[in-house]
Amino acid sequence: MPKVVKKYGCICFCISVCILGLTLFGYYIGTGKFLEVPSFQVLDFRLSGLDESLNMSRVNTRSNFTIETHNRGKNMHIYYDDFHFSVQWKNVNMGHGRVAGFSQGSKNTSYFTGSLQSHPANRKLNATEQAQLMEARNIGSMPLSIDMIVKTQWKDISGLKSDKFDARVECQITIEPRISAASQLLEQDCKVLNFKCLEDC
Ligand SMILES: *[C@@H]1O[C@H](CO)[C@@H](O)[C@H](O)[C@H]1NC(C)=O
Ligand SMILES: *[C@@H]1O[C@H](CO)[C@@H](O)[C@H](O)[C@H]1NC(C)=O
Ligand SMILES: *[C@@H]1O[C@H](CO)[C@@H](O)[C@H](O)[C@H]1NC(C)=O
Ligand SMILES: *[C@@H]1O[C@H](CO)[C@@H](O)[C@H](O)[C@H]1NC(C)=O
Repeated sequence: MPKVVKKYGCICFCISVCILGLTLFGYYIGTGKFLEVPSFQVLDFRLSGLDESLNMSRVNTRSNFTIETHNRGKNMHIYYDDFHFSVQWKNVNMGHGRVAGFSQGSKNTSYFTGSLQSHPANRKLNATEQAQLMEARNIGSMPLSIDMIVKTQWKDISGLKSDKFDARVECQITIEPRISAASQLLEQDCKVLNFKCLEDC
C-alpha cells in the first residue's frame, strides 16, 4: 500500500473510533442508565401527646421520626433543599414541619430525623373523629400517612446539574400509639412520586 493511503486510512479509522465512542457515551447519557429514583424507608416513628389530645378533644401531638434514604444512582449526585412534612391521620394533621436539606453522593445512604408539631394547634376533633381515633388508640393500630415535598436536583456524569423539580415522597405507616419508650412503628411503605424529571426535564 502507498504511504499516503495508509496514513489517511489510519486517520479515518481514528475518526470512526472517536465517533463510535462519542455515540456510545451519548447513548449512555441519553438513556440515563446511571440515574435511578432514590428509595426512602421509615426506621423509627414516635407519636406523643395522643392521650392528652383525646382527653381534650383537641389535637396537640408531636411526631418524631427517623427516615433513611438511599441514592441508587451509579453516577448521580442528589441535592435536596429543605424537606416539608405533614403527618396525617385521615383529615387530621398530627405533625407539620421542616427538615434541613442535604446532598448525597452515588450509592450513599443518609438518615434524617424530625420532630414535628400538629398544625394548627388545638384543632378540635368532632364526635366521629374522636370516636375513631379513640378506637384506633385502643386497638393499638393507627394508620398514618407521611407526606414529604422537597425541591430536588441532581448532577450526572456530564457534571451538569438538572433543573430543580419538586419531588414527593409518601409513606404509609401503621403505629402502635400506646408504646411510650420505643419505636411505635408496625409497618411502613414509602413511594417516591414525581421524580419523573428522570424522563423529561
Ligand atoms: C385522661 O382522662 C382520664 C379520666 O378522664 C384520666 O384518667 C387520664 O389520666 C387522662 N389522661 C391524660 C393523658 O391526660
Ligand atoms: C421528640 O423530640 C423532641 C425534641 O427533640 C423531644 O423533646 C421529645 O422527647 C421527643 N419525643 C419522643 C416521644 O421521642
Ligand atoms: C367530622 O369531620 C369529618 C372530616 O374530618 C367529616 O367527614 C365528618 O362529616 C364530621 N362529622 C361530624 C359528625 O361532624
Ligand atoms: C458516600 O459515602 C461514603 C462512605 O459512607 C463516604 O466516604 C463519602 O464521602 C460519601 N460521599 C458523598 C459524596 O456523600
